[in-house]
Amino acid sequence: MGAQTWGGSCVLADLIAGDPESFGLSVAQLNAHSSEVFRILELGAGTGLVSLTIGNVLQQLKFQNTRRIEIVATDYYPRVLDNLSNNIRSNFPEGGPSSDVSIVAHPLDWSTFASEGKRDGLFNEPFDLVLGADIVYEPEHAPWIRSCLLHLLRRPSATEMPLSHLIVTKRSTHSFEANIIEKVFAMDCDPLVPCLRVVERDILTYGGDTREEVEYVYYKIGWFYPAQGRK
Ligand SMILES: C[S@@+](CC[C@H](N)C(=O)[O-])C[C@H]1O[C@@H](n2cnc3c(N)ncnc32)[C@H](O)[C@@H]1O
Repeated sequence: MGAQTWGGSCVLADLIAGDPESFGLSVAQLNAHSSEVFRILELGAGTGLVSLTIGNVLQQLKFQNTRRIEIVATDYYPRVLDNLSNNIRSNFPEGGPSSDVSIVAHPLDWSTFASEGKRDGLFNEPFDLVLGADIVYEPEHAPWIRSCLLHLLRRPSATEMPLSHLIVTKRSTHSFEANIIEKVFAMDCDPLVPCLRVVERDILTYGGDTREEVEYVYYKIGWFYPAQGRK
């Protein structure tokens, strides 16, 4: 696991490269961003295709260099993290696509993150964009990922709506995967406490012609404020 790139990463990388604006990655969005650093987190990054694609997209953009961008590609297994670090180094030997954009590999275990008393400093600040491709394939994964997002996805402001983009491959053998995300991110909210909800869901079909067609479920997850009835 983690030595191969899964279909979900290819799909997410394709979506990001095709329409960076949908991920808040256009020049106008980045220049207008309210904080000095725009922070991006990838969960269960594996080989890191999604983070590396973002690095490439940002290399093409010319945003004001008063802004910094940090991409943190995370995984759990040491072997996977070694491979991820090597991939980052071979694509960006300087540590990022430019002096304003950094990419690092870092350990993050979904199963323990929420209960860890002392976290690495990289996780002291929340993230403006969180990505995950093919990271829900056991029933416990979705609740673990929700508990990470509760700590790590920045709360919305008047002008910004931070989102987590998750792609799940639909497999006939794992019918729980898609349903569990919808259940876990649609749980009843305490009327006074913001909660995380699926704000958009799409089915995407890739392949065809000579290749087998594969369906993916694409979720955008964001904060919901029950008291105000606003997302
Ligand atoms: C199916 S692979 C997907 C990898 C990559 N996102 C892709 O699409 O190519 C799942 C990834 O989640 C990581 N993973 C599994 N359990 C984890 C955990 N508890 N915490 C963090 N990462 C985990 C694995 O090491 C693996 O890289």
